[in-house]
Amino acid sequence: MEYQIPLFQLNFGEEEIQAVTETIRSKWISTGPKCEELENLFVNMLHVKYAVSVTNCTDALHLACIVCGFGPGDEVLCPSLTFAASVNCIRYVGATPVFCDIKGPTHINIDPVEIEKKITSKTKGIIVVHMAGFPADMDNIMDIAHRYGLKVIEDACHGPLSEYHGKKLGTIGDCAAFSFFSNKNISTGEGGMFVSNSEELATKAYLLRSHGMTTMSYQRAKGHATAYDIVDLGYNFRMDDIRASIGCVQMKKLQEDLIKRALVRQRYVEKLSQLDKIIVPFADHQGFVSNYIMPIVLINSTREKRDLIREKIHAAGIQTSVHYPAVHKFSIYKNIGGVLPKTEYVSDNEITLPMYAKLTDNEIDTIVDTVINIVNA
Ligand SMILES: Cc1ncc(COP(=O)(O)O)c(C=O)c1O
Repeated sequence: MEYQIPLFQLNFGEEEIQAVTETIRSKWISTGPKCEELENLFVNMLHVKYAVSVTNCTDALHLACIVCGFGPGDEVLCPSLTFAASVNCIRYVGATPVFCDIKGPTHINIDPVEIEKKITSKTKGIIVVHMAGFPADMDNIMDIAHRYGLKVIEDACHGPLSEYHGKKLGTIGDCAAFSFFSNKNISTGEGGMFVSNSEELATKAYLLRSHGMTTMSYQRAKGHATAYDIVDLGYNFRMDDIRASIGCVQMKKLQEDLIKRALVRQRYVEKLSQLDKIIVPFADHQGFVSNYIMPIVLINSTREKRDLIREKIHAAGIQTSVHYPAVHKFSIYKNIGGVLPKTEYVSDNEITLPMYAKLTDNEIDTIVDTVINIVNA
């Protein structure tokens, strides 16, 4: 079914097509100068010391878990209200995820109180997800991490340019991961970025991104190196210059795109305030955020009621989604599980409404009127 109003629309134009064409014409399409340009744009945008482009955010998270030293026997605290990749990365390195509940439907990020309760002698780190681009409670999380000697990885996939007390998300923990999947704020189809202020962590991530090799093909093609050694067990997590060239264009559009998204959210929040049967997470949040998605949570509802409401919204030509099915409920995580009542409530009663910069006032009004009519029926 073709939706009249989709969940997301690419902010692509001729500029992206031109950038790809130029890269193809340059005759260098794998990791090279465009990846380096994208990394530099990231460093400048986040005011972070190091950025390493990678195949996707999942691989950036995998690298993050390796460089933070997580391994078999270790426990890593994480939310369950996230995409599975934020948890799978812990398993890739043989460590055990320990799920923590969120604060609640108004603040759908991991709760520091839960984090502290679940720390054991085996705990080595925390993975934080900034849902929809709204910051988790990083002051308290970093305080706990310092007191217990834990590493913090920010899954900042939803939050490029989001701010927290004067810092950009992704620069507060030990390292962070961003995604350029097509529906993200920066879209390249697939792609991601590992960032860190630690030279040690970034150097290791850079090495492991390409098989643990001491030089890259581009350096050899340019005559800057003629040989390589392999000094660690690495991977092929390299981004290519075709995607990176799209990323560079997207980065230049980002600020303006996010300003428009903030206006979209503002109209949503104002209009949705007529409906007393829902909560808009982070409704009172002040500060610049990416507004990756537009979540709402139904009050006094059930999963069945939510699913029915979604079906009716879809029948009206409006696409919705759910962020997220709780990870601890998936078959592969059932043996770990956890008691996470707030996560389960939000997971069962959340609806994600369309969000993109080009959403018009008329479209927002149509969406909100449709939601109000259906929820009040
Ligand atoms: C919170 C979160 N983390 C990680 C990922 C994985 O990103 P990628 O598709 O770039 O691997 C996603 C993707 O949707 C996500 O939403």
